[in-house]
Amino acid sequence: IRMPRTIIVSNRLPTKVQRNNEGLSFKPSEGGLATGLGSIYRQDGNVWVGWPGLLVEDPAEEKQIAEALQGDSMAPVFLSEVEIENFYEGFSNSTLWPTFHYFPQFATYEPAHWQAYVAVNEKFCRAVLELAGPDDTIWVHDYQLLLLPQLLRQQRPDCTIGFFLHIPFPSYELLRVLPWRRQLLEGMLGADLIGFHTFGYMRHFLSSVSQLLGLPNQNGQVELPTRSVLVDAFPMGIDYEHYVQAAGSEAAQQHEATYREALRGSRVVLSIDRLDYSKGIAQRLRAFEQLLQRHPEWVGQVSLLMVVVPSRDQVAQYASLKQEIDELVGRINASFSTIDWNPIYYFYRSFPLEELAALYRLAEVGLVTPVRDGMNLVAKEFVACKTDNRGVLILSERAGAARELSDALLINPTDLEGMAEALHQALTMPADEQEQRMTAMRELVREYNVFAWSKLFMYQLAYSKVKQNTLA
Ligand code: UDP
Ligand code: G6P
Repeated sequence: IRMPRTIIVSNRLPTKVQRNNEGLSFKPSEGGLATGLGSIYRQDGNVWVGWPGLLVEDPAEEKQIAEALQGDSMAPVFLSEVEIENFYEGFSNSTLWPTFHYFPQFATYEPAHWQAYVAVNEKFCRAVLELAGPDDTIWVHDYQLLLLPQLLRQQRPDCTIGFFLHIPFPSYELLRVLPWRRQLLEGMLGADLIGFHTFGYMRHFLSSVSQLLGLPNQNGQVELPTRSVLVDAFPMGIDYEHYVQAAGSEAAQQHEATYREALRGSRVVLSIDRLDYSKGIAQRLRAFEQLLQRHPEWVGQVSLLMVVVPSRDQVAQYASLKQEIDELVGRINASFSTIDWNPIYYFYRSFPLEELAALYRLAEVGLVTPVRDGMNLVAKEFVACKTDNRGVLILSERAGAARELSDALLINPTDLEGMAEALHQALTMPADEQEQRMTAMRELVREYNVFAWSKLFMYQLAYSKVKQNTLA
């Protein structure tokens, strides 16, 4: 007999496969969904179904990848070149991502992209059904797979299905712009439990369901003719201990010492994100420039270390943002640099965990400035790595994390002066105030970690099923 297990489904697997001269290599994926869930899926014989991140056309290579991933409890779904273009770069990242992050001006509405979105969701459905036993729980993740819960429900009416959205759910006024808004909501409602990072996102969803589908809700429960769906907020956490350990590791401390020596006493403000217009990267650069203009005493004293991880670079808006950032960094560095000091150190690549941990340790200020962000796990990782309880987090009020991390210096990323002043305040904050704020945030991040998050979600999911069965 086989024990019931959980099948995790997301577009991106926590491992990305790359092809180079020596053959295939396997690396951890970036992005909050993969890093956060990466710590929990291996428990209890679970499996993770998703795309390994590269185009594979040779069946022998597909087989090789599938076998390698199977050893690590992953089952790959391969996407063709056209699917990558129309489903991933197209509907997922040129329609849904901009709309859900309040950038409707960046959104395109291509019927061919929608068709590919439907087809790839069906492809994922087949892949999951091949693996899922009747008692297994299926947990679907994120905006690339909004139709999957309903597709699964049609094939397996009694199956336990959870859905979690890792990005914001927008106000009805934005959602209604999408030609396929009804199908998207109906797709999600195939789940027994739908989770969001914040109550705000959850309210937006319930309001859209009521206005577009005419379905009422009570206490977060949506009544369908044959079943009911539970909707709730579950703010995602991180694997706190993993980051504490990484920060304390020999490797991280050595990296930190090397960086410190190279920076020759310059104080460090740190930012880390994927290259994305939702992250407020240009705003942050302008705010840092304003700090140097308004408070010239920091010239020669403070540097911004900015890690930008390449992301979705085939999508036009991402490519043009890359150019804007390159130019801004070049301009600011050219105006302020001295022979022995650089205002901005800009890295356009990803870093391994020990080096990220070293950067988190090194930085006195963590600068997180998204104009929209479902949660933002970088903010929590920074806090976790501050094992001496020193340092200041500056956090955008428009990140989901701001609902929890109220001891950060909260800023509005549109307000450049406010951001520059928050930087000044952070750099001059007395040690006891730093400790007081950091201790409170660390306590919260430690307690509401990713294990507590998934446990609560799974518990609620089981509960929603029991409740339905008693009613039936
Ligand atoms: N990250 C990474 N390698 C890097 C830089 C960042 O793995 O070089 C990770 C980072 O540690 C975090 C995730 O990428 O866990 C970003 O998650 P977040 O929720 O902040 O934003 P998202 O990318 O999901 O929008
Ligand atoms: C965000 C999304 C994830 C996505 C990640 C990286 O965290 O919520 O679903 O995997 O960004 O983006 P990518 O397009 O590379 O998968």
